[in-house]
Amino acid sequence: MERIKTGVPGLDELTQGGIPKGSTILVSGGAGTGKTILCLSYIYFGAVEFNEPGIYITLEEGAENISWNMENFGWDIGALQEQGLVNIHRIHLNPHENINMQVEQELKIIAELVKEMGAKRLVVDSTTAFGIWMEGKGLLRHTLFEFTSALKELGCTTLMVAETKNEKNVFSAAGVEEFVADGVIALYFTPPNRSIFVRKLRGTNHSKSIHPIDITSEGLIIRAKDEILWDAIK
Ligand SMILES: Nc1ncnc2c1ncn2[C@@H]1O[C@H](COP(=O)(O)OP(=O)(O)O)[C@@H](O)[C@H]1O
Ligand SMILES: [Mg+2]
Repeated sequence: MERIKTGVPGLDELTQGGIPKGSTILVSGGAGTGKTILCLSYIYFGAVEFNEPGIYITLEEGAENISWNMENFGWDIGALQEQGLVNIHRIHLNPHENINMQVEQELKIIAELVKEMGAKRLVVDSTTAFGIWMEGKGLLRHTLFEFTSALKELGCTTLMVAETKNEKNVFSAAGVEEFVADGVIALYFTPPNRSIFVRKLRGTNHSKSIHPIDITSEGLIIRAKDEILWDAIK
């Protein structure tokens, strides 16, 4: 199996050297657990360390917010955009129109962008927005499955964000995203402790422990050699 190194400090140590190439990994967690920062790191380090173009698809925050977040860590996002290594793409879903049709249209736009840049990495932040407007879990599961299959065909390795209510054992809002994904990485924030847990990863062994995370002005770092007890998470 071919892997890609995420380049996120500490993360590849939890997955025997990277995530399976072409896979779709769900990054789940409550508000403020670090999902966006982890995904930004994946795009940033992909570009600066591996020269791999990446697209950050945002359904939550504006593109300016995303850029500002990266600049705050001292990352020169503008330069990477100019070099065609990073693209931030905003999707607005209109709840009054057919969601499936909008998702299909967006997929076409994303496919074009991927081909144009030769993107290898994608982030979708977040898929929770898909679920909110869609009637029925069956339809959501179907749409997400089609969506992730299309991304796979483009040859990209994707991180998909799921916003949860900060419950230990709940990995998505609609309860279907984790079944569509090839892997699930859960983030927790029990103040003052942040942590990460690889819940599932198809095709490779991985750490079964919970590891502490630090977020500082330098970015996000996973302390892969340290562990946190399951009971310490609320
Ligand atoms: N420069 C920084 N120094 C320390 N902590 C930070 C910094 N930037 C962000 N954070 C922390 O990261 C959190 C936001 O993480 P984010 O990835 O946006 O969360 P999520 O996407 O899961 O809602 C903030 O609430 C804050 O606590
Ligand atoms: Mg976020």
